[in-house]
Amino acid sequence: MYETWEELEKSINNCQKCKLCKTRQNIVFGTGNKNADIMFIGEGPGADEDRLGEPFVGRAGKLMDLAFEIVEIKREDVYIANIVKCRPPQNRNPEDDEAKACMDYLRNQVILVKPKIIVLLGSVALKNILGKEYGITQARGKWIEKKGIMYMPTWHPAALLRDENKKADFINDLFLVKEYISSKSEF
Ligand code: URA
Repeated sequence: MYETWEELEKSINNCQKCKLCKTRQNIVFGTGNKNADIMFIGEGPGADEDRLGEPFVGRAGKLMDLAFEIVEIKREDVYIANIVKCRPPQNRNPEDDEAKACMDYLRNQVILVKPKIIVLLGSVALKNILGKEYGITQARGKWIEKKGIMYMPTWHPAALLRDENKKADFINDLFLVKEYISSKSEF
């Protein structure tokens, strides 16, 4: 566990904890407000993220940005990271050993950000953070409290690209998040 962002970021340089290091172009560490109330956790970088070194900058990310506009969440106000920091080849799901190897980085990011809310984007994030017993279809849109953090599981933005009907759910879940934060900041 690193006490500072500098140490943590340095520790991931040239990481070779799992086989994804062999095929990556860039490590996608995370971006945004390092003191955010809201943290988003995705699955892993895609091709665009791998090329640019930033999370959610491809098609799914652009859709997420549109949803943020609708609910008035600013990307620069939240912190965004992924379960794995390196792209799984052909955008396959991260394998258990890869997620496990990368988990200490994410745990350390959560400890440093100290978010009130963590939005879990899709099944991979949900299962790796809260446990394999959870399913995204059942869990989405419902608050789960664990160790003082409120978790909101929702669809992965890429799922919205495949199924239009999921867009309304996604927006709805983000509204719940906004509502929670607003209720906490009123005196
Ligand atoms: N999908 C993810 O899960 N994360 C990204 O950063 C981009 C696409």
